[in-house]
Amino acid sequence: MKKRIAIFASGSGSNAQKIMEHFKHSKVGEVVLVLSNNMDAYVLQRADNFEIPSHIFDRQELYHTDEVLHLLQRLNVDLIALAGFLWKVPDNLLKAYPNQILNIHPALLPKFGGKGMYGSHVHKAVLEAKEEESGITIHFVNENYDEGEVIHQSKFKIEPEDTVEMLQFKVQQLEHNYFPKVIESILKKM
Ligand code: GRF
Repeated sequence: MKKRIAIFASGSGSNAQKIMEHFKHSKVGEVVLVLSNNMDAYVLQRADNFEIPSHIFDRQELYHTDEVLHLLQRLNVDLIALAGFLWKVPDNLLKAYPNQILNIHPALLPKFGGKGMYGSHVHKAVLEAKEEESGITIHFVNENYDEGEVIHQSKFKIEPEDTVEMLQFKVQQLEHNYFPKVIESILKKM
């Protein structure tokens, strides 16, 4: 039986796209739902293109009801991938999916994580700190932002001429390459 994946995303969803592409023909897992807090998020269009259903929620629904949890349970979701999801995961989901929620972060945690560390803010902070390398971190999600157990990191060397945009590009290449594969390896162990 294929494992069932739900993706949470707030924005463009280029990582979600790679995950949907990867699992379109996989024997290990399938993407059954895309969820977003943002009705204008381009990820919703991407889900449509794959004929994968989507669900939009607001703060009230996510943090003060069990509707999202019940939807995931009704669809027998085994694993949740956060792909550019900017809100905190509520306790009811963390309890129901222990070590079954993965996040991708565009830097080498534990550095450059936590609140406000998303998108170009991360790369700007990395450059300002004159780091020699950057990369990606894929980790389990717990109740604190960016602090769950690390599953995978990939790195690259920062060149003197690198800009925020160049770091963004290099990080994105790594994310697109590794996130689907790491999800698959976790599914195989489930
Ligand atoms: C990625 O850089 C990811 O690391 C971060 O949010 C970004 C999402 O990009 N958590 P996209 O929406 O998948 O293009």
